[in-house]
Amino acid sequence: MTQSATLAGAFDELADSYDHRHHEDIARALIAWVAPGADEAVADVACGAGAVARQLALGRPDGAGPVLAVDLSAGMVAAGRDRAADLGLESAIDWRVGDAVPLPVADHSLDVVLCASSLHFLGRRAPADWLRALRPGGRVGFTLPLATHFRPSGRFAAHVARDVPLPRTAEEASAWTTACGFTEAASRVHVLGTRQVVVTSAAAPG
Ligand SMILES: C[S@@+](CC[C@H](N)C(=O)[O-])C[C@H]1O[C@@H](n2cnc3c(N)ncnc32)[C@H](O)[C@@H]1O
Repeated sequence: MTQSATLAGAFDELADSYDHRHHEDIARALIAWVAPGADEAVADVACGAGAVARQLALGRPDGAGPVLAVDLSAGMVAAGRDRAADLGLESAIDWRVGDAVPLPVADHSLDVVLCASSLHFLGRRAPADWLRALRPGGRVGFTLPLATHFRPSGRFAAHVARDVPLPRTAEEASAWTTACGFTEAASRVHVLGTRQVVVTSAAAPG
């Protein structure tokens, strides 16, 4: 079995017991930090059950295209589809099961790329692909666990990318984002009970 299939299987098994409330809180913080326009072309990268995509879809005006939502785990996407259907959002999200890197979009076609709680699985190749997918001046937003508060269980720890350094501070997250080729990086620490994540926004050059 490939690494990707093993990881997808682990998230498939987690889908029924997933902590939606925690991830919806993070998604809200991410969306507030990046503030995408209601009708902008947006991708939710490694969307899981679509915590980001569902919140964006709720505010989408008629005529705006769907939010693209991509994840390796068919089980997580199925959970997201069910939750979106409960909200009447069937056509507002374009769900895809597969590797989110590269994103299944043309070069420079997206206004905004959002990635909640997943970049540490995707690796450094993800921000490189976001620079390809975003239009000049388009925006990226992601969250990462704070290094001091990250305790992945064994089966997930094995899949954490070594080339994405978990930040110890907001400043470290912004510096890494700038080193990846983005401009205007701004980060803050978001506290959720005993857990803490860094929320970062930045722009594609141009
Ligand atoms: C902790 S969950 C976060 C999901 C979602 N973004 C959220 O905020 O709830 C991490 C997700 O990353 C997905 N993932 C990991 N590597 C991936 C890849 N290469 N392509 C697509 N999805 C991936 C997993 O399947 C899982 O759903």
